[in-house]
Amino acid sequence: MAIQKRTIGIVGTGNVGVAAAYAMFIQRTASDIILLDKDQSRAEGEALDLMHGQTFAGPARVRVGNYPDLAEAQVIVIAAGVSQRPGESRLDLMERNVAVFRAILSELDQHAPNALLVIATNPVDVLTYVAQALSTRPAQRIIGTGTMLDTARFRALLGEHYGVDPRSVHAYILGEHGDTEFPVWSDARIGGLRLVGNVINGRPYDRPALDAIFEQTRRSAYDIIERKGYTNLAIGLVIARLVQTILNRQRSVLPVSVRLQGEYGLTRVCLSLPSIVSENGLESSILPELDADELAAMRQSASILQERIVEALP
Ligand code: 2OP
Repeated sequence: MAIQKRTIGIVGTGNVGVAAAYAMFIQRTASDIILLDKDQSRAEGEALDLMHGQTFAGPARVRVGNYPDLAEAQVIVIAAGVSQRPGESRLDLMERNVAVFRAILSELDQHAPNALLVIATNPVDVLTYVAQALSTRPAQRIIGTGTMLDTARFRALLGEHYGVDPRSVHAYILGEHGDTEFPVWSDARIGGLRLVGNVINGRPYDRPALDAIFEQTRRSAYDIIERKGYTNLAIGLVIARLVQTILNRQRSVLPVSVRLQGEYGLTRVCLSLPSIVSENGLESSILPELDADELAAMRQSASILQERIVEALP
């Protein structure tokens, strides 16, 4: 039986691009992975290194390509650009990465105009908006990884706290992937039961402990960057999950960065809302009922990002 050819492009084979390639390679997400980097020799090294793992992971072609080779890709991940140095916020990177994006998008529009784009470079919300503004493809075909990573961190920590599988924790971090992100406590649940006010698995509702879990979530990137210099492994898994949802037509609900069109009264911004992701990209967003604090936090995220978007696209 012929295996359906499924090609993913990864632009930028730094720590994040490579972690995404590795996650997709071992999870058998695609038949072909094409790596692109301005440092071609590094990309070649990564491709060779991965190819040798076929003995364990199963056959998949990993190779270095150039922009015209991406014409066959169904999904292209953009992980190119500079990353944070210790102490730098995600928004500090903006100017340098907007310039990188201009060049990449003009190539992608020319050579792979129909591919769906997954944006992972920071500041991811600003760059998702910039990509949608610069690209000829419809905005719903450009999705940012957004707070999928923060939500994953949050669920992992809550799972640990309550002694349950993080996959059974239904709790979101929404808004900016960055300092103004916020947890939706009012609708955070395990097994259908709200965390707020309830004893779950023998653990009482402990507001200070839960607030500390959110603070740890929000600080995660800083804590990791301080220790290892960058973050890459969990975001690699996030990208793999997002690409699988697209290619496998799973229509999963994921907190990804999308363009708001009046949701919560907000426009001219990309930020994370729980959204149904399909083979066409963004299908639609789900709008949880937010309490007054959460709504205020959402507006705060939007206003900070809107300011940066105006600076990015004067
Ligand atoms: C992270 O949250 C730095 O955005 C990156 O790990």
